[in-house]
Amino acid sequence: MGTEYALLVAPSANRVYTQSAPDLTRAELAAFSAGALEGRLGPATPRDLGGQTYLVFATEDPLTSEDLAVLGNLSSGLALYELVPGDLLRPIRTSALDKFDDDLITIPKYSGKTNENFTKLLLNVTALASAWAGDFGSRTFTVLDPVAGRGTTLNQALMYGWNPIGIEIDGKDLDAYAAFLKTWLRRKRIKHSADITPVRREGRKLGRRFDVEFTSDDRRLTFFEADTTQARALMKRQVADLLVADLPYGVVHGSRTSKGLERGPAELLSAALPGWIELIRPGGAVGLSWNTHVAPREQAVELLERHGLAVLAPIGLEHWVDQGITRDVLVARRS
Ligand SMILES: C[S@@+](CC[C@H](N)C(=O)[O-])C[C@H]1O[C@@H](n2cnc3c(N)ncnc32)[C@H](O)[C@@H]1O
Repeated sequence: MGTEYALLVAPSANRVYTQSAPDLTRAELAAFSAGALEGRLGPATPRDLGGQTYLVFATEDPLTSEDLAVLGNLSSGLALYELVPGDLLRPIRTSALDKFDDDLITIPKYSGKTNENFTKLLLNVTALASAWAGDFGSRTFTVLDPVAGRGTTLNQALMYGWNPIGIEIDGKDLDAYAAFLKTWLRRKRIKHSADITPVRREGRKLGRRFDVEFTSDDRRLTFFEADTTQARALMKRQVADLLVADLPYGVVHGSRTSKGLERGPAELLSAALPGWIELIRPGGAVGLSWNTHVAPREQAVELLERHGLAVLAPIGLEHWVDQGITRDVLVARRS
């Protein structure tokens, strides 16, 4: 029967997300198992232990320290225990890739921000769908968020020690992100250089770019203010291992009414996808989330397949966000 483990799911700040968190974590565990742990985790099932719901799963052999260094990166895992006969819980120490204090991700608060746990989940399942899933804990992935907003994905990628690239059409978002990151890096005494410069091609201004280079290693972050349909003109082919995007919701978000240029997600996807795909290395993966009220899943699948991507079967990540938004996730691999 092997070893049984019980995972306590973290209470999220967002009440609505909390209701879906156990289901989403179950799907995420399955993705970790298939992608990085050779399918060694049995299916997870919810179990009530002393009034708390845990996700319980079994393995044939006990988890190794390498396994625990991967599972420590689950987006909603609070604590992991070994289930000892007699309903006793033995705490298990996991480790995470985290390179920085978590206020890098929690401090920014703004209307239209993608939930932090969800952003980490989307990044995880995308990395786990790539050809390098087995190197989850060791590869320095380059992650492109082509609709980056104020940078939740970029900050999560930085947190993992990976190299983020963002594209965002709204210059105010670039300014807000640059101001936040520069202040945060200075306050944490992390040595770096940072610059905002114009981007021109053939004498035409395409936008601006914000670059950060870390002094301690060769990691870097690049954030472009540009229309993502022009992504191909901004950088070289095949620069990214992963493309992760929480697409515009097709609804007005609070104060974000200045976005006259914003298109619906299906329209944006069909205009931007050919350029995006050229930026991904073969073996790389795409993870998209979007509002199913404005574009059905089949339409998104058809679009990705038409552009030569292999779409993974639904992995159970659809969830309710609010009255106007039901969010689903599509993950695909570039061959
Ligand atoms: C759902 S939001 C992403 C939020 C982001 N994940 C965050 O947490 O800040 C989608 C973003 O896509 C941007 N966007 C819409 N159309 C775009 C385009 N053509 N080019 C680049 N960005 C675009 C919007 O301005 C918006 O910031």
